[in-house]
Amino acid sequence: MENFIVSARKYRPQEFETVVGQQHITDTLEHAIEENQLAQALLFCGPRGVGKTTCARILARKINEKDGSTSEDGFAYNIYELDAASNNGVEHIRDLTDQVRFAPQVGRFKVYIIDEVHMLSQAAFNAFLKTLEEPPAHAIFILATTEKHKIIPTILSRCQIYDFKRITIEDIQEHLKKIAEREKVQYEDDALYLIAQKADGALRDALSLFDRLATFTQKNITLQKAAEVLNVLDYDQYLNIADLAHENKIPEILSAFNEIVKKGFDPHIFIAGMGSHFRDLMMAQNPATLNLIEVGEKTRLRFGEQSKKWVPQQLIDAIEICNHADINYKNSKNPRLTVEIALMQLASLTAIGNGDKKKSS
Ligand SMILES: Nc1ncnc2c1ncn2[C@@H]1O[C@H](COP(=O)(O)OP(=O)(O)O)[C@@H](O)[C@H]1O
Ligand SMILES: [Mg+2]
Repeated sequence: MENFIVSARKYRPQEFETVVGQQHITDTLEHAIEENQLAQALLFCGPRGVGKTTCARILARKINEKDGSTSEDGFAYNIYELDAASNNGVEHIRDLTDQVRFAPQVGRFKVYIIDEVHMLSQAAFNAFLKTLEEPPAHAIFILATTEKHKIIPTILSRCQIYDFKRITIEDIQEHLKKIAEREKVQYEDDALYLIAQKADGALRDALSLFDRLATFTQKNITLQKAAEVLNVLDYDQYLNIADLAHENKIPEILSAFNEIVKKGFDPHIFIAGMGSHFRDLMMAQNPATLNLIEVGEKTRLRFGEQSKKWVPQQLIDAIEICNHADINYKNSKNPRLTVEIALMQLASLTAIGNGDKKKSS
């Protein structure tokens, strides 16, 4: 069998240029190194899977390289990494602070990376604080955390803070495309978009979803398969239901809903998704709002087509019907019925609309 390395490991950026979506940070860091303006303590904060550890390692290596304390094969002598998630006791910090005192044997700086720093125990935190208050001139600390609010103010005030952002859907999609091409995985654009959307800003999550799908689909990731595996209703279902509603097909819409429930989808998520779909149709009616729809290119065109069939007031009513069912769902004694009523109302919208038109003409 082919040797399988998870993409998140295989594609950990080695240079600032290849870090996706954090340019505000990588530019600043690069500049600070060049100008020798690096702070002695830095704190990288932000959601998980967005490149904090990656950037900490790149930065540490750059500092070492500038310093001349990197061997020819790229080994950096003066980098120490502590993962506080698994080494959070005071003894672990003591080990670290004990050696901080000694100047490096090669070069000027020793770089300490403390990852998941919020996991340090109270005692460990206190021990560390002493070092951070009076760090020797050769020590640089890079701390990383997903939980900035858990870091005590005395530490925050001693660090230069870098806030990492969630990666945008477009940036994730682009990144996945490059990896798919390198890994010779075939894909539909909209499928990668769906993965990116589902990853909710975390590139690492996007990569592991991608791996799962690549394996499951034998390297041919279609939108349909992606939707199935990620357990999201694909756009076809919503497009179909909206068409049935437009044609006033009450029995058909109810049995389509039944099929969806039978596949294990949560009716609540479905009706909320239906509301989003009508909202997207509203946006699709006007070029000015077209780009507010978060879907892939091909799907966007289909939304555009479908939106032409509806008049704006009907779409507003449809959004309200779905929203109402969404809000009432949890309090209803018969939540399934709540969704079915909403669907019947949706399938009556254009019938009422036609009646109105006849009356007024
Ligand atoms: N901004 C990014 N650019 C490129 N790859 C990323 C980025 N963020 C995360 N990754 C991918 O996810 C993996 C884990 O990222 P990591 O830096 O450990 O995230 P964090 O420390 O923020 O949780 C990396 O090895 C890389 O493959
Ligand atoms: Mg990390």
